[in-house]
Amino acid sequence: MLEVRNLAVNYRGVCGLDHVSFKIEPGQLVGILGPNGAGKSTMLKAMLGLVPVSSGLVNYCTGPLHQQLERVAYVPQRSQIDWDYPITVWNVVMMARTRQLGWFRRPGRAAQEIVKTALDRVEMTHLKQRRIGELSGGQQQRVFLARALAQQADIFLFDEPFAGVDKKTEAIILEVFEELRSQGKILLVSNHDWGQSLTRLDRLLLLNQRLIADGSPQEVMTPENLQSAYGGSLQTPLYQDVDTNLFC
Ligand SMILES: Nc1ncnc2c1ncn2[C@@H]1O[C@H](COP(=O)(O)OP(=O)(O)OP(=O)(O)O)[C@@H](O)[C@H]1O
Ligand SMILES: [Mg+2]
Repeated sequence: MLEVRNLAVNYRGVCGLDHVSFKIEPGQLVGILGPNGAGKSTMLKAMLGLVPVSSGLVNYCTGPLHQQLERVAYVPQRSQIDWDYPITVWNVVMMARTRQLGWFRRPGRAAQEIVKTALDRVEMTHLKQRRIGELSGGQQQRVFLARALAQQADIFLFDEPFAGVDKKTEAIILEVFEELRSQGKILLVSNHDWGQSLTRLDRLLLLNQRLIADGSPQEVMTPENLQSAYGGSLQTPLYQDVDTNLFC
């Protein structure tokens, strides 16, 4: 079980995250929803100790998560990755293994096989020698999904994996999530607009600095909760989707 308790982040006077608590069982796919600036990225980073927290703890199984980071695969939001870094697709995915091997040991056949399987799974093997910066946004997203797979982690944190991807890439990502869930992994995925994919989630966390709601997508996507999260800025189609299409 993954437990986040009272997690809060303060960026020199700006509230990034306001005392958020939740638990996730193995085999659950949990979505995070909230407007721009809601603290989705901040929450994922705070869980890993990548930003200083003002309060809270994050535990997994026997102890603090930040002491077990090898069990976590984290894919940051695209805007936070340096795409000019001169590294091939193959080596991006291999990084998931070298971190475990140590930088100075050559990866053996087992590591190569894991990397190949991961790239095959996201249909990116044909681009393995390309520099990551030369790929399209959706292709880059798939490569980072492959890197997460190659890490063979227990917990997967994805920050906006669907941003700017086409239907095919979206379908591959959703299939992989399904497979990981059925293997008993924990998945926590942020998205600023889940659309029809809401129905794939076991649970949804609605965030706007504080945790506004936590439950099944149907329980969370009420007009009252959405009003609390988005205020007056929300477009009506989101309500209509909830009422008429998604949960019939
Ligand atoms: N490094 C930082 N220094 C200061 N303030 C920050 C920093 N990073 C984020 N913030 C602020 O913290 C709040 C939460 O930002 P965060 O990036 O976590 O939101 P988000 O939900 O991921 O937004 P988006 O949908 O745009 O990705 C915002 O008010 C943001 O301006
Ligand atoms: Mg973000």
